[in-house]
Amino acid sequence: VNDDRISRISSSIRVIPDFPKPGIVFQDITTLLLDPVAFKYTIDLFVERYKEKDISVVAGVEARGFIFGPPIALAIGAKFVPMRKPNKLPGAVISEEYSLEYGTDIMEMHVGAVQAGERVLVIDDLIATGGTLVAAMKLLERVGASIVECACVIELPDLKGRDRLGDKPLFVLVSST
Ligand code: PRP
Ligand code: ADE
Repeated sequence: VNDDRISRISSSIRVIPDFPKPGIVFQDITTLLLDPVAFKYTIDLFVERYKEKDISVVAGVEARGFIFGPPIALAIGAKFVPMRKPNKLPGAVISEEYSLEYGTDIMEMHVGAVQAGERVLVIDDLIATGGTLVAAMKLLERVGASIVECACVIELPDLKGRDRLGDKPLFVLVSST
């Protein structure tokens, strides 16, 4: 993305080596949240891109997709659907197991939260291997939803997560090498 706001966003993200494991270079968005200007620029850039796209669902991945997803959903007039870690959602769920840069996990979504044919934007803070976004899209496609795009604040292009998304479009604000 070519926008003056990107450098403010990029410089607000803290990088912590060897967290949570040796060799992982952790991109910490909590410092972006401490800068209200950078946080607003982040939300505004997504809202500008998605406001006229007939999106009725913003799906956010726990935990950091819960930070960026809801303000985007409110601004574009869409519902927010949480994609959660296992055994957190009280209603009937569907589940997908997936792998990520530093382990494996299970993702769950409430049955009935998204209807067949709805147009969905999937939001997370970061794409590393892409496993998380692939799991989210599988859950959404199992209920017949249509994925408009996946959007993240940060991409780690070296991990080639984008390739795992196949033909699904990915939009990111910042690439970190
Ligand atoms: C992180 C990040 C993404 C995911 C990206 O979440 O917020 O959701 O990893 O990795 P991938 O592209 O290799 O799948 P994490 O599972 O650490 O959970 P958290 O947000 O609860 O900290
Ligand atoms: N999730 C997966 N890899 C990550 C990284 N390097 N930094 C922050 N979150 C991540």
